[in-house]
Amino acid sequence: MKKVEWNQTLSVGNEIIDKQHMKLFELRNMLIEAVDNKSNAAILAETLTEILKFTRSHFEFEEQFLEEKAYPDLQAHKKKHFEFKKKIAFISKEAISDRDSTQLKLISYLSEWIINHTSKSDLEYKKFI
Ligand SMILES: [Fe+2]
Ligand SMILES: [Fe+2]
Repeated sequence: MKKVEWNQTLSVGNEIIDKQHMKLFELRNMLIEAVDNKSNAAILAETLTEILKFTRSHFEFEEQFLEEKAYPDLQAHKKKHFEFKKKIAFISKEAISDRDSTQLKLISYLSEWIINHTSKSDLEYKKFI
């Protein structure tokens, strides 16, 4: 997996949300680094837990914010967040016997999703806020 830095082209035009997206990218890079360095299981699990926790709180903030701005596509956007959470929960439950591959699956899904979502779906609300 490749590290990606947040950049201005990804700005949604709101400073708080941009900062949260930057943090998501940072955590994502930390996670990739932990995998690349073959960090111990505890560090990897900790980073994964942190990014999932942060993702959830970011979704809450973003949804509330878009609701205040009466974003017309909010329901569809919420659904994307929901699908992500559902998929993460699904992968987590899967293959409990094989923790390592489950963790890697989670990491690759999560890493790809963050980039796709922030560079496409999140930018769709830019002109409404
Ligand atoms: Fe979003
Ligand atoms: Fe977002």
